[in-house]
Amino acid sequence: MMGFVHFCFAIAGFSAIWLLVSYLKKQVIETEDGSPSLLFHSQEDQQLMHSYKGAFSETEYIYGMAIEEVKDLETLHILSVGLGFAYSELSAVCHLWEHKDYQITSYESEKDLVEALLAYLNQQPSIYQDQYEKIFSIYSEHFKIPLEKIRQRLKDLLASGRWKILGAFSFQTSPNPYNAILFDPFCARFHQQAWQMSQLLPWLENNAARICIFSTYAAKGELKRGLKNLGFRYEKRPGFAYKRESTFAIKGR
Ligand SMILES: C[S@@+](CC[C@H](N)C(=O)[O-])C[C@H]1O[C@@H](n2cnc3c(N)ncnc32)[C@H](O)[C@@H]1O
Repeated sequence: MMGFVHFCFAIAGFSAIWLLVSYLKKQVIETEDGSPSLLFHSQEDQQLMHSYKGAFSETEYIYGMAIEEVKDLETLHILSVGLGFAYSELSAVCHLWEHKDYQITSYESEKDLVEALLAYLNQQPSIYQDQYEKIFSIYSEHFKIPLEKIRQRLKDLLASGRWKILGAFSFQTSPNPYNAILFDPFCARFHQQAWQMSQLLPWLENNAARICIFSTYAAKGELKRGLKNLGFRYEKRPGFAYKRESTFAIKGR
């Protein structure tokens, strides 16, 4: 009997430590424009999901402007690589508020982030309740759309299948013609595979629709040359905050 009690205590202790460790893996940070982000810790490194100068401001600068470039298309398919706190998705939905026919495909490898967002949308307890409350309020104020309408729009998109949230992204996903590729994985130090040009460029060739914008916070010579070879017009654009350059490339117009 005592052996069993010890065993239960050991399991409980182990679970508590595991919960603590997984909790410490991600730390909420308030960025300088007041919008929240997450700092991911790995054993030897750490990576913030957004610029510490502003998660909302950076998203609007890098991805909001990309959506503006193609929002006149009658039908529109947006890809978001790295759901994170869903800034890119909120940006898309708000920029496309009057648009009648668009779909979004999001990829996120961290299940807890997806679960937290779905819980918030369904008004259930969410581990990032306060952060979502803040993020949705920022979008609501900026775009002058009531928060509840934004929440409902996201729920409707999910229910109708026009917004799909999938797991880990890889270049082996079945091809889709995307009109806007919001490429927001972690940097190469943290997510090396996402930035391998030998994979990214062939993938782009198969997944960029005739009219397509590709936008990301980073800039690399090889990416720039590759995009040009694929028929994209590369617009030289300063990066957000202290970054020298970002990538904003459009094809078909
Ligand atoms: C820079 S953050 C994205 C921020 C996000 N766009 C937002 O609006 O908050 C990168 C995200 O990619 C996710 N991620 C990492 N590897 C991934 C993979 N293979 N597939 C999909 N998502 C991945 C991380 O968990 C993280 O949430």
